[in-house]
Amino acid sequence: MEVDKKEELASDSSDQTVNPWEVSAKEGGKIDYDKLIDQFGCQRLDDSLIDRVQRLTSRQPHVFLRRGVFFAHRDFNEVLDAYERGDKFYLYTGRGPSSEALHLGHLIPFMFTKYLQEAFKVPLVIQLTDDEKCMWKNLSVEESQRLARENAKDIIACGFDVTKTFIFSDFDYVGGAFYKNMVKVAKCVTLNKAMGIFGFSGEDHIGKLSFPPVQAVPSFPSSFPHLFPGKDKLRCLIPCAIDQDPYFRMTRDVAPRLGYSKPALIESSFFPALQAKNGKMSASDPNSAIYVTDTAKEIKNKINRYAFSGGQDSIEKHREIGANLEVDIPVKYLSFFLEDDTELEHIKKEYGEGRMLTGEVKKRLTEVLTEMVERHRMARAAVTDEMVDAFMAVRPLPNMFESEKPLDFVGSSLCRYYHCTRSMTRTQRKRVEECLEVGNGCLVATVKYLSNSYN
Ligand code: TRP
Repeated sequence: MEVDKKEELASDSSDQTVNPWEVSAKEGGKIDYDKLIDQFGCQRLDDSLIDRVQRLTSRQPHVFLRRGVFFAHRDFNEVLDAYERGDKFYLYTGRGPSSEALHLGHLIPFMFTKYLQEAFKVPLVIQLTDDEKCMWKNLSVEESQRLARENAKDIIACGFDVTKTFIFSDFDYVGGAFYKNMVKVAKCVTLNKAMGIFGFSGEDHIGKLSFPPVQAVPSFPSSFPHLFPGKDKLRCLIPCAIDQDPYFRMTRDVAPRLGYSKPALIESSFFPALQAKNGKMSASDPNSAIYVTDTAKEIKNKINRYAFSGGQDSIEKHREIGANLEVDIPVKYLSFFLEDDTELEHIKKEYGEGRMLTGEVKKRLTEVLTEMVERHRMARAAVTDEMVDAFMAVRPLPNMFESEKPLDFVGSSLCRYYHCTRSMTRTQRKRVEECLEVGNGCLVATVKYLSNSYN
C-alpha cells in the first residue's frame, strides 16, 4: 500500500513541513520539492508527459506546465492513456473559503484547471469547503457560507464553462449519495491512520477528524448522481497544490477497497511571497502578496518596495556580475505569468548578465500583473448572483463532454440574452461587454446559458 510507509516519513521529516495547514521549510529556506516527491511518493511530471499533453490536445501546453509550476503527479499518465483510447475523465478541484480577497497564488489552480477543461473538453466539479474553514478558522457557519459565495464569484471570473462546471458548497450539497460515500470512506480509515496522515492529536476537536472524507469523495463519480449516473468508471483528475496531497493519499488508499478507481493528481509548487522568505504567501501579511483587489498603484508599490531582488547593490557591481536569478522574485513571478517564452528568456539573459537592471524587470512585472488583475476585476464585477446560482444549481450537464465552444457570438446580439436574465443591472451588462472586448468570452456564454434556461 502506497500510503503506509510514506506518511510516516512525511510527518516525521523535521526539516520541512508540508500539509494542508502548514507549509514551512527549514530556517526559512526553500521547500525542497524533490524531497517532497520522495516523501509523498508521487511522480515527477517529466517532459515526455508534457509533450504527450501537447499531442493529445493539439495546443501548446499551459505556461504552468512548460515552466514546471505543476511539477508532480500521480497516475496522470494513466488518465492520458485512457483519453487516448477515447475515454474521457472529469476534473475535481476546490477552495477553502477562508478570506474574502484572493491573492495571485489562489488563482493558480483555477487558471490551470480552466486550461485543462478547455484543452481536454471535460466536466469539472469545484468543491467549496466552507465546513472545513468553519472548523479550522473559527468562522461562523454563516460567515463561511458567505465567503464561499464570494469566492465562487472570483472562481467564475476565471472563465469556467457553465455547461461543463458544477460548483458546490459542502454545507449545501453534502447529503444523499455524497454522504453515503463519505461514510464508506470513514469506515476504512482508523484513528491511528488519520493521525499519521494529517498529524491530528488528542487536543483537536472531532470535527477536524471527520473532515477528510468530505474532501475525499468528490474523487468518486457516484458522489454526483445528477452528473454521472451510470458512469462509475469515469476517472477523476485533481489539479491542486501539493499541500493537499495527504487528503488524496488517503483517498487513493481506500478507493480500491470500495471498488472505486483511484483519482489521478497533478500537483503544483507554491507561489512564493514577495519577500521570498519561505514557500508560500501568507494571508495574514497583506504586503507579502498581490491581491486580485489591489489597485494599479498598490501593485506597483508592493513590487517596488517588497519584491526581493537578486540584483546587485551597486550599478557597477550589477553590470559586472549580473543578477542572481535563483533568488529574484520579479523573475520568478514573470516565469509564472509572462506568456511569451522568448521575452522571458530575453529578460533572464539580459538581467542575469547585468545589462538589464532590477528596476526595468520590476516595471515589466508591474505591467503584466496590473493587466492580469485588471482583467480579473472586470470579469469579477460582471458576475451576478444569478450566475453564481446557475453554476451552483444541482443539475445535469448534458453537454459536458462536447467539444463545441458555446460562445462566439457578437456583442450586438447580447441584449437579446440580457432580456431574459433576472438580475443584471445595467452596469453589470456593461461589464460583460467589456469582458467580451478583452476576449473573456466565458461570462458571455453564461449569460447566454441563463437566457436559455429562463426562456
Ligand atoms: N482544502 C482545500 C483548501 O483549503 C480546498 C479543497 C477541497 C481542494 N477540495 C479540493 C483543493 C480539491 C484542491 C483540490 O483550499
